[in-house]
Amino acid sequence: MPETRREVFGVLCSGRGTDLQSIIDAIGRGDIDASIGVVITDKPNVMALERANKAGIQNVCVPRRDYDDRENFERAMIAELEKNEVTSVICAGFMRILSPYFVHHYAGRIINIHPALLPSFPGAHAHRDVLAYGVKVSGCTVHFVDEGTDSGPIIMQKAVPVLDDDTEETLAARVLKEEHIIFPKAVSLYADGRLRVDGRHVTILPANPKQHN
Ligand code: GAR
Repeated sequence: MPETRREVFGVLCSGRGTDLQSIIDAIGRGDIDASIGVVITDKPNVMALERANKAGIQNVCVPRRDYDDRENFERAMIAELEKNEVTSVICAGFMRILSPYFVHHYAGRIINIHPALLPSFPGAHAHRDVLAYGVKVSGCTVHFVDEGTDSGPIIMQKAVPVLDDDTEETLAARVLKEEHIIFPKAVSLYADGRLRVDGRHVTILPANPKQHN
């Protein structure tokens, strides 16, 4: 029998935590064969912490403002992740760029969701940038994190129309609905060891027989 390691995710969030909730719910339904070891936020008193509490998941705030530089902040996050035996990291609405130090520490084991069709509109203001540019289609992207900004290999994407009367809020809501579908799907494939990465290309492998037991 090949050894199967069950992933323990550390989830990084900055705010409301609806993407986190989509992962919590999918684990609850048995759609993701993994657990969440800890939820970490960079801001205090955010909804993501409440959601983790409600689900009985270990959670902690590591306030960015308490650290003089990014590496010390990330060292503190890594200490929490290691304390909770995390094997891989999910960024679910985490509004900070991870440094090469953190990315190397979890090389190939960090997944992010971005609210646009990468490589278009990376960064922290995707919906604003989409509307300013005038594109007719936007969407969301689940990808592995590399050292760049939203530049790692793409796992899954879903497109939505951009409507003439869209505001940032209406577009964000349309995109978010799709995020909550593709994010748990991509995380499930990762947890099952079904993502093969060759350079920029991510291939979905056939289901492992363990899933049919
Ligand atoms: C989501 O739309 C996510 O894609 C985006 O923040 C939102 C978080 O919502 N992430 C980024 O923009 C990362 N650059 P949530 O707090 O309700 O999960």
